[in-house]
Amino acid sequence: MSGEASAGAGPGAPEPWGETRVVGKPLPRIDAWERVTGAAVFTRDLTLPDMLHAAVLRCPHAHARVRRVDLAVAARRPGVRAVLGPDGPGAAIPWYPDREGKPTSRLLDPDCRYQGEEVAAVAAETLAQAQEALAAVAVEYEVLPAVTDMERALDAGAPAVHARGNRQGERFGYSRGDLEQGLAQADAVVELTTRSACSVHTPMEVHCSVAHWEGHQLTVWDSTQGVFAVRAELAAALGLPLSSVRVVSHFVGGGFGGKLQLSKHTVLAALLARAAGRPVKLALSREETLRCVGNRPPNRLTVRAGARRDGTLTALGLEALGTGGAYPASATSGLLVGDLYRCANVRTAHDNVHVNAGPGRAFRAPGVPPAAFALEQAMDALAEKLGLDPLELRLANLPTGSQTRGLPFTSTGLERCLREGARAFGWREARARARDAGPLRRGVGLAAGMWGYEGDPRATALVTLLADGSATLNTGAVDIGTGTRTVLAQVVAEELGVPLERIAVENADTGTTQFSPPSGGSQTVLVNAPAVRAAALEVRRKLLGIAAGELHAAPGSLRLEGGAVVTAAGRRVLLKDLAGLAERVSLVGVGERAPHPPGKLALPFAAHFAEVEVDVRTGQVRLLRLLAVQDSGRVMNALTFENQVHGGVVMGLGFGLTEERVLDHATGALLSRGWHDYQLPTALDAPASIDWLPVDPHDRECNSVGAKGLGEPAHIPTAAAVANAIHHATGVRPLEAPMTPPRLVALLARARS
Ligand code: MOS
Repeated sequence: MSGEASAGAGPGAPEPWGETRVVGKPLPRIDAWERVTGAAVFTRDLTLPDMLHAAVLRCPHAHARVRRVDLAVAARRPGVRAVLGPDGPGAAIPWYPDREGKPTSRLLDPDCRYQGEEVAAVAAETLAQAQEALAAVAVEYEVLPAVTDMERALDAGAPAVHARGNRQGERFGYSRGDLEQGLAQADAVVELTTRSACSVHTPMEVHCSVAHWEGHQLTVWDSTQGVFAVRAELAAALGLPLSSVRVVSHFVGGGFGGKLQLSKHTVLAALLARAAGRPVKLALSREETLRCVGNRPPNRLTVRAGARRDGTLTALGLEALGTGGAYPASATSGLLVGDLYRCANVRTAHDNVHVNAGPGRAFRAPGVPPAAFALEQAMDALAEKLGLDPLELRLANLPTGSQTRGLPFTSTGLERCLREGARAFGWREARARARDAGPLRRGVGLAAGMWGYEGDPRATALVTLLADGSATLNTGAVDIGTGTRTVLAQVVAEELGVPLERIAVENADTGTTQFSPPSGGSQTVLVNAPAVRAAALEVRRKLLGIAAGELHAAPGSLRLEGGAVVTAAGRRVLLKDLAGLAERVSLVGVGERAPHPPGKLALPFAAHFAEVEVDVRTGQVRLLRLLAVQDSGRVMNALTFENQVHGGVVMGLGFGLTEERVLDHATGALLSRGWHDYQLPTALDAPASIDWLPVDPHDRECNSVGAKGLGEPAHIPTAAAVANAIHHATGVRPLEAPMTPPRLVALLARARS
């Protein structure tokens, strides 16, 4: 089970596991009871004694300058305990840094660059009183011309979002070989341009912070993906030492990248709490979260792809336009074009423009699902042109390493994802079926994907074995709903043989737990589980030392299982009966994650296979079945793995078929202001069957648990696979996401005429 240090999975890491007993099993979440009964306290549920409620006044214009704010009347309204405007303390805290780290705005900035930008805030005894007071704030705006359409932002004479113009930095990109030469060498070339709408994260739990000062000590309960990230940013914003800020996030209802960083409402809550001398809760409404705490930027992507008759790719080009909204944010990704397939001649160029819209943020594999939607449709079209099966075209161009970074992969499961997926899906048979002639057309499509982030390896965990044989795990990792607590507890159970129900997890509290990077970037398990394993192994070594002495056995001959030590001869001694453990009261192990394997990249891969039915009269698309094949390395928990795949696929369906932030380009107003207009897929939209097939390459180098990331790769290829299936079913290529009925009906009509 355990092993000594070796160079296998990073310097100083323990030997990889062989067979496991607890890890990998489909175990329900250890906190399922709290979650299901509603006993779990999310930040939104938290109430502190004497707590006030805050609300934010937001600019009603897409672009305006605040000339004057009068808070005097509002401050006298019933129940109001604190007000904060653009001249108040903290209002000038720098915000939205550019690539060089220079701020482009401030916490409450007189220059408002999108509809919904923060102007002032109020804390009162009740939320109703705070909202009522906001109505009494007198603001004089100078309304300015706005641009919300990214394709118009660079036009001559377009309204300037920032004084220095609408370009967010210079065009940037990547190149290897010679794209034009590669296109010239090709026997077939395709060029297509996709457009994808802006999506909004819409986690079940809205963003919320509760701030509480005790003297100079600030505690913030925050619905966040990363308590340590928020602590660092909040301490910097308020000019406090890290030790004066505590951030807690015990239960979180999703984040998807929208809760990776500090948000303005958190600082406003802290400032209002300080002014009022009372705890303050600031919970955003659903509409506010659709405006101001991030989104997946819209993309316009032009892909050029060329290949020889045998399928060998000779050229891949990407021209990308995106917008981080009114403030700096990355908008497009060149990852797939640069690294998903072996190709000698590649060139990418990215333009990122400013528009008068809410700022972009990291969103589940930032930029990559839109890029998959473009690249994987281009691959599909190229295969068609060459008369090849799209599966064969992909198999002809498998990578073995990152060509953009010049490093081999520790494992490359892409080929197995494609081959085993095709077999399990019945790809060839389904593909060969004749196109239906009636109004309901069925088709199948596939798309591949990969993810490019290895994770921030700096994670520490602490495991304590207690005298009665139970154990605690202390980790800073946030469980954003994916089952992090459960999976990390399984690692402890695996190494110590302590039953899962006797392990308590304390997590995501900067005041009491160990450092962990944010739960994002598909890094949570692969960064934290090795640290937890190292901590458990330290406890294990101490425990076996004690047991060996008492049982007169060599430590290496003992096993730990069922809360007992078992000798080679089969003698069982419960941990609580070890005198040495009782004497020590507890055994503590501190574990750090070993660095990444030097000179290699550990990255996950995926292939999704979709079957759709398109009603060519209405443009309605029904996903009949989807198979997600994931090389995420070891499956740590078959149940949470499946859950993650379901979430990624359904979110991919939303991206592909229904979700669209709609702005009125004439006024700059947000039109999709709630779940009526911003259409998340519901249970009725999810396919009857989402199948998942893990491909485990038994990567012994990636880290000491053998797991690679899953959260993002489970989402990346979905929409592209559906698009290719729609093409197979109907013959039209849906280049615009979401592929809504009106868009498809228009495409089908054009194809008929
Ligand atoms: Mo993710 S976009 O790193 O939560």
